[in-house]
Amino acid sequence: MSKETVQIFDTTLRDGEQAAGTRLGAREKLEIARQLVRLNVDIIEAGFPASSPEDFEAVRLISEQIEGPVICGLTRARIEDIETARKALAKARRPRIHTGIGVSEIHIAGKFADDKYGKTIGEKQATILKMAVEAVRHTAQYIKDIEFYAEDSGRADRAFLYEILEAVVDAGATVLNIPDTTGYAMPEQYGALIADIRANVPNVKKAIISVHCHNDLGLAVANSLAGVSNGARQVEGTINGVGERAGNAAIEEVVMAMHTRRDFFEDVETNINTREFYRSSHMVADMLGMPVPANKAVVGHNAFAHSSGIHVDGFLKKRETYEIMRPEDIGLAESRVVLTARTGRHGLRHRLEEMGYTLSEQELEKTYERFLAVADKKHEMFDEDLAAIISDEIHAIEQVHILEYLHVACGTGTLPTASVKIKTKDEIKQAAACGDGPVDAAYEAIREATGLSPKLENYSIRAVTGGKEALGEATVRITEDGRTFTGRGISTDIIEASAKAYVDAINRMVAAQHVSSEAKG
Ligand code: KIV
Ligand code: ZN
Repeated sequence: MSKETVQIFDTTLRDGEQAAGTRLGAREKLEIARQLVRLNVDIIEAGFPASSPEDFEAVRLISEQIEGPVICGLTRARIEDIETARKALAKARRPRIHTGIGVSEIHIAGKFADDKYGKTIGEKQATILKMAVEAVRHTAQYIKDIEFYAEDSGRADRAFLYEILEAVVDAGATVLNIPDTTGYAMPEQYGALIADIRANVPNVKKAIISVHCHNDLGLAVANSLAGVSNGARQVEGTINGVGERAGNAAIEEVVMAMHTRRDFFEDVETNINTREFYRSSHMVADMLGMPVPANKAVVGHNAFAHSSGIHVDGFLKKRETYEIMRPEDIGLAESRVVLTARTGRHGLRHRLEEMGYTLSEQELEKTYERFLAVADKKHEMFDEDLAAIISDEIHAIEQVHILEYLHVACGTGTLPTASVKIKTKDEIKQAAACGDGPVDAAYEAIREATGLSPKLENYSIRAVTGGKEALGEATVRITEDGRTFTGRGISTDIIEASAKAYVDAINRMVAAQHVSSEAKG
């Protein structure tokens, strides 16, 4: 059975840009429009030309530069708006005018309160119907692709809604937009509204029914899909669901729902190149300065990330256990295993193998223990953290001296002092010392406790990973008898990392001396 196409009407540049606090320039809008072409949307609503000279310019520029999708301009049901939009769209290869008017009693009472529109609600409705028909008729003289929006359809009186829709189709409208302007409808209600329009507007077959849902109750996507299930063949929405108040239906969610649940939406398809979703989402987020929440469906940072032990384990054994979409289908290179304190051994081993480390069971166990200790203090463990742990735990030499205890006291007006306990095979030695700073004091105390005083050639510290709970990695270079030894230490506490690095360097020195004396002896 051949499938019917659901057209995707992107209004990121019009309804999306109406989002509080955002304003895009014409060049930025053109950039987004180019990305929407790559995404292969069917219609780009480029702006509301009569609303401002900037919007006019954006619609004009996009009409001139963009080929492929239909380019649409919004108007009120007013001749002057339509004329302005017509001029802005003059160079568009496939222009559409999207005109309309408020149809619910709340909108009529609020926007058409003046007696010049009629005294009673019935008289006002008659005026509104006349304005709608005149707007469509006027447009039809120049442009054949005409979309009519019946604003606040979700709360409109049904009889009046059917009447106005029939009249505008007779006047030349080719698309009927049924906006749930205030995001008030429940999915079953909105689906039934679309079904009822199809059943009660006699000439409805001459037009495509479009759904335009707002997200005030978080139902914009669900309502749009209910509309499709009931015969709507155009969906309006925005990238990332940006838009007025709580926003519009997120196009990536609507399309991926239809794509992923082809079994449910079996007789429809879209023309969208879903692999462009990730890029589109990032571009719109960056340009509007509206970051995508990490848990946002489809395009959020965590949408393809697995973290808990059970999930990672299941995912690694069979991706479908915890993933219903493939990351590559939205343009992401791959899923992410996020390593946290809840990650199991299997997840850790997998990541280490990807990084090129092959560990024995024992080594993995040791790494895992250390991993958990560090992960407990951090939200997320990065590759650099793992590399630092491996270098510390697995590639380390025999620890002749072990830093058992370190206490440092320092502060403004205080002489920095440190006390340490160093454990060897046979004994535990304690020492305390002062220094120029906390690290210097700790190093002096370590020299006292070990009885070894190699020359400190170099000391450096760097944050291995980002964030305030980042790991610090200290590197020290010491010399003794003309030989140089380098030690490394990591910890979320930089003084501890520094002390560990110094002890590590001393241990390397001792190990080397041991090897030399064995060779001589
Ligand atoms: O939400 C709405 O009703 C609209 C119309 C102007 C189409 O954005
Ligand atoms: Zn809207």
